[in-house]
Amino acid sequence: VWPALMETALSQIQPDRLLLRTLKGEISPRPPFWLMRQAGRYLPEYREVRAQAGGFLDLCLNPDLATEVTLQPIRRYGMDAAILFSDILILPHALGQKVWFAEGEGPRLDPIRDQAGLDRLDVANLTARAEPVYEAVRRIRAALPDTVALIGFAGSPWTVATYMVEGAGSKEFLHAKGWAYANPAGFQRLIDLLVDTTVTHLSGQIEAGAEVVQLFDSWAGALAPAEFARWSIAPTRAIVRALKDKHPGVPVIGFPRGAGINIQAYVEQTGVDAVSLDTSVPLDWAATALQSRVPVQGNLDPLALVAGGEAMRRAATDILTTLGKGPFIFNLGHGIVQQTPPEHVAELARLIHDWPSA
Ligand code: CP3
Repeated sequence: VWPALMETALSQIQPDRLLLRTLKGEISPRPPFWLMRQAGRYLPEYREVRAQAGGFLDLCLNPDLATEVTLQPIRRYGMDAAILFSDILILPHALGQKVWFAEGEGPRLDPIRDQAGLDRLDVANLTARAEPVYEAVRRIRAALPDTVALIGFAGSPWTVATYMVEGAGSKEFLHAKGWAYANPAGFQRLIDLLVDTTVTHLSGQIEAGAEVVQLFDSWAGALAPAEFARWSIAPTRAIVRALKDKHPGVPVIGFPRGAGINIQAYVEQTGVDAVSLDTSVPLDWAATALQSRVPVQGNLDPLALVAGGEAMRRAATDILTTLGKGPFIFNLGHGIVQQTPPEHVAELARLIHDWPSA
């Protein structure tokens, strides 16, 4: 009886976080919103902190500075959620793979292309090397207003594997797909390792105070249907199951970017609590095929935010009108780009805060 009573008492004093209510299926007059890459180079205050930090990874692994840049967009725009400032490539770094960011060139890694490369990964020291990330989560949660939810995240195994195997961003995924087609059992060992370590890394963030987690499958759209089932759906389902065992109350948002019509199987088969839509997903179709099952998030074109003005207002209003009838989180269809004028983000934030009376 006691634990049950305690649960009730605790749930009654839980602050009213709009994002968490939406993820339980509630429909609110004004949807919660946050924006992928809401902290970043489009903000002058980010560029200032970034210049002090040394490299980008140093910034991710400095709890004070990571806390500061996580809070910057919340102070400016009043989003309903903060997303931990980190990167999906912190996981390979914490596994002992060499990761660096060449200025203006994006990520570089010392590539892993066979079993010998896998054997060199140092799984045992993952949480020790990622500890500054968990410390940042503790500090961010302590600093955030009660009404703002904190989102933790990781890349999906497939997307992280593409960087680990290619050694950089890629268009063709020559080496990752080559390995997956020529030696699926060998590539499966990399994916399985990433499933386990992603669960560990997300659990570390949850235990430090993250209330929601998002899995970014940025390169899901590169996979043919059978490969999508094996390398995106199955590992995602395994991660969701393991997280539900350990942390049953924590919602998981999946983002299979570019998956096209495969997103429907993803929603039906992975067990994610909500799905994030990329810019290409038609709103009416999403409302019937996806939102009837889970809350949806998305999907304003980041380039409409760069353009601003009437074009942005029209696109945002369409999304709010169509998806706002069900459980819905307003977001972009992919990350904010560097060229985004900060005042356009302010205008978008006003439009959503004033919805539906605007
Ligand atoms: O959303 C947020 O505000 C939280 C922080 C966040 C970053 N990266 C910060 C970042 C998140 C959630 C990510 C996820 C991420 N990282 C993804 C998945 C989402 C997506 O965009 O598809 C991927 C594929 C990465 C890997 C990565 N990190 C790339 C390809 C790059 C280079 C591209 C670029 O914009 O320069 C990064 C660097 C990176 N991650 C930056 C930021 C703010 C820019 C680094 C800088 O300040 O120089």
